[in-house]
Amino acid sequence: MTFSIKGLKIVEKYDSIKFRFNNWRILNMAQLWGGRFTKETDQLVYDFNASISFDKRLFAQDIEGSIAHVVMLEKQGILTCEEKDAIVKGLTSIRSDVEEGKLNISHEYEDIHSFVEANLIDRIGDAGKKLHTGRSRNDQVALDMKLYVRNEVVAVTEELTALLESLLAVMENNLNTYMPGFTHLQKAQPTTLSHHMGAYFEMFKRDVLRMQDVYKRMNYCPLGSGAFAGTTYPLDRAYSASLLGFEGPTLNSMDSVADRDYVIEFLSALSMVMMHLSRFSEEVIIWNSNEYRFVEIDDAFSTGSSIMPQKKNPDIAELVRGKTGRVYGALVSILTTMKGIPLAYNKDMQEDKEVTFDAIDTVKDCLHLFNGMLKTMKFNTNIMETSAMRGFTNATDAADYLVNRGVPFRDAHGIIGQLVLYCIDKGKAIDELSIEELQAISPVFENDVYEAISLKTCVEKRLTIGAPGQKVMEEVIKMNKEFLNSLGQM
Ligand code: ARG
Repeated sequence: MTFSIKGLKIVEKYDSIKFRFNNWRILNMAQLWGGRFTKETDQLVYDFNASISFDKRLFAQDIEGSIAHVVMLEKQGILTCEEKDAIVKGLTSIRSDVEEGKLNISHEYEDIHSFVEANLIDRIGDAGKKLHTGRSRNDQVALDMKLYVRNEVVAVTEELTALLESLLAVMENNLNTYMPGFTHLQKAQPTTLSHHMGAYFEMFKRDVLRMQDVYKRMNYCPLGSGAFAGTTYPLDRAYSASLLGFEGPTLNSMDSVADRDYVIEFLSALSMVMMHLSRFSEEVIIWNSNEYRFVEIDDAFSTGSSIMPQKKNPDIAELVRGKTGRVYGALVSILTTMKGIPLAYNKDMQEDKEVTFDAIDTVKDCLHLFNGMLKTMKFNTNIMETSAMRGFTNATDAADYLVNRGVPFRDAHGIIGQLVLYCIDKGKAIDELSIEELQAISPVFENDVYEAISLKTCVEKRLTIGAPGQKVMEEVIKMNKEFLNSLGQM
């Protein structure tokens, strides 16, 4: 016979005693709150409300938080030493059984907290029922999510650091690889590959600093806040906070259970990472095109076309660019979810998890794959250099040449403008004109102009901090190396 209790389908032949037994068992195992209810939960309501299909990700954090909680309860004399030991042993065995695949996190439980508590009671009996003393699922889930996000802040930082290391290697090896720099996607002035990669280094460095900042601000422990008003038990919140590696306890129990600012800050920092990766991807796609050929993406990071045999597509870069949308989506989703929630906990907040988990997975994958693509990408340095020689990237330097010989800048600008027109007409670069042709436009030009507007000079003379000149780039690389060395500890 099939019937359902509190949303659970049970297939069982039963007599009244067995029914009562089942009823008791299910109320205690699958739901933590059946006592006040006289009607069973509608199956759809049960499913709609349940979060175990996604919050099972918080399993390790739930166990970790529960262990800290009971260790503190015992220290405060709220649990006996035997009770604490039994609970810790039970929780540890649940953890290892799940890790070893002996225990499945089954979806018949409402959420991960219910799963752990029910299993504990199943294993150790009455002592297990004391685990939740002085705790609510509100501070419990706030803690679990915080522990999870805190770990992921570190994991993302590690991926960012690996990318920074790859970038620094390209920078060090390409101090004299000349290429055009662009504005409006038009060749503007010459620079080096080292300098161009250095721009991305700065972006991802700021991303690392943002992660550190998120970590520092979020690192306060909500455990012990109860449903929202603390508890009447003499909890030592500072002690549980220290057991879990927090700076200290949060200072307002209402805020503690209602706060998801750290999720939003993290998603905002992740969105920024994706914005940087997306810009970089866009450049890789352009540089990899037949028209540019500045880079060649390794076969392992490209895909083919089902119809056009000649194609080698930059799909990874395109996907990274495309996935930026879903990470921004996660940020906007939680900002919107949180904006209308009155204090303190409301079930809306359960919506923080799926999009956050998805955003974290996406960003870690993107960072990892992008780094792999960067490390295996071939830079066609000759093509870059030839491109820098065409397109009048030295026009500013030609104007500066005249300025250094007494021509006012605005006049020099006009003269070089005429020169460029002339070059376009002749299909030549400025430094391909004869001295007679140059002097016909301005008598100020002399033979030393060729040296003054060579690619090498144009780049090497740019020596203010932050510019592409080799000497100053070497200084910047040294500073960035020190930054990477300083990272180790967070
Ligand atoms: N699944 C819930 C969440 O993710 C856990 C907290 C439930 N608390 C409550 N009062 N219903 O937010």
